Amino acid sequence: MSINIPRGTQDILPGEVEKWQMIEEKARELCKKFQYKEIRTPIFEHTDLFLRSVGDTTDIVQKEMYTFEDRGGRSLTLRPEGTAAVVRSYVEQKMFGYANQPVKLYYTGPMFRYERPQAGRFRQFVQFGVEALGSADPAIDAEVIALAMSLYKELGLKKLKLIVNSLGDKDSRNAHREALINHFQPRIEEFCSDCQSRLEKNPMRILDCKKDRDHELMKSAPSILEFLNDESKVYFEKVQKYLSDLDIPFEVDPNLVRGLDYYNHTAFEIMSDAEGFGAITTLCGGGRYNGLVEEIGGPDTPGIGFALSIERVIAALAAENIELSINDEIDCYLVALGEEAQDYTVGLLHKLRLAGFSAERDYLDRKIKTQFKAADRLNAKYVAILGEEELKANKINVKTMSTGEQAELPLDAFIEKFKETYK
Ligand code: HAM
Repeated sequence: MSINIPRGTQDILPGEVEKWQMIEEKARELCKKFQYKEIRTPIFEHTDLFLRSVGDTTDIVQKEMYTFEDRGGRSLTLRPEGTAAVVRSYVEQKMFGYANQPVKLYYTGPMFRYERPQAGRFRQFVQFGVEALGSADPAIDAEVIALAMSLYKELGLKKLKLIVNSLGDKDSRNAHREALINHFQPRIEEFCSDCQSRLEKNPMRILDCKKDRDHELMKSAPSILEFLNDESKVYFEKVQKYLSDLDIPFEVDPNLVRGLDYYNHTAFEIMSDAEGFGAITTLCGGGRYNGLVEEIGGPDTPGIGFALSIERVIAALAAENIELSINDEIDCYLVALGEEAQDYTVGLLHKLRLAGFSAERDYLDRKIKTQFKAADRLNAKYVAILGEEELKANKINVKTMSTGEQAELPLDAFIEKFKETYK
């Protein structure tokens, strides 16, 4: 019996993988412009890290983590997201002591969540994310949002909606928390068991419940915006001003609560409103997490970031009918006739590649016509043909595939001449 791929995962094959590379490349270029540096952290971390950061009342921690015991009896978890590990590394590597502040980092890599797979929702997915640690300037909130928006725009996406909210600081959140408890408590038995246990521990999580989404108390729940203290209000206004200064349209949505516990102040999501995108429309999510560094054992440090998955970028591109223009040409295909010529092309091919050209030859002892077909399939710009006679006469023919033009080059100076003529 054959073995299939695990549910919620996918193989990304040649032909498709080029799109991924292009999106990742664009993300890297943008990070260079915005001055975020790459960080690579392990795929698994101690389970406690996620309990402490993502939060033990969240769906991610309660239902979705791939947790296992290693042979030494340690509880480890495949990372469900990237922020916790970046903050762990920030503390462990003492990045708060770096001369350059804030510390601005980005990452790409697979994340794992045991979710119900559907369009746009996988159990292994690739996130690109950024984190800026060490600044509480609202300008950095705007910068982080601008970076995410720029990536989507550079890829050609137009049907985007940015929603922002403020979750306020500790005092604002505590006031809101009280109001939520008062609001839900009298009828809490009408809610699911998760919500019931969240009432005291983390009532804001109730607002994020998928099961009780349509309960009438959800719509009338007190909004965090009514509980922002002056400092939080001023902060949120500044973020909005900067977004407007950057010509980034947004909507304030007081119901936006994110699925992770570490947020305060700015929270945001970028959605696709392209027709046919499907039920899950969130492309990107992020926000501020002042206090998380301290929670993980470092000094009190502000932070903000976002993450987006490449899977959903690809889905959004498809929904907007955008084809990325992928250059899949190769420079030169070597066609050889006869054993001696075939032998000769082994070395010649290698020299071409070392000289900087993408090049290929036949490995299946195929007839000349079939070799030409292979060259066509590979989108070869030039085909160099070497037969026994040319070999003896120290010549090689080069055909420009777009025009059909042929030229004869000296075989012993082929690489230099090919470089000069075709660059
Ligand atoms: P998140 O909202 O859990 O936030 O995930 C961010 C993004 O990851 C989502 O908007 C979506 O694009 C993608 N994503 C999440 N789950 C899946 C899935 N099952 N399949 C495909 N894509 C998915 C975080 O992870 C935070 N760490 C973001 C952050 C960084 N906040 C501050 N810094």
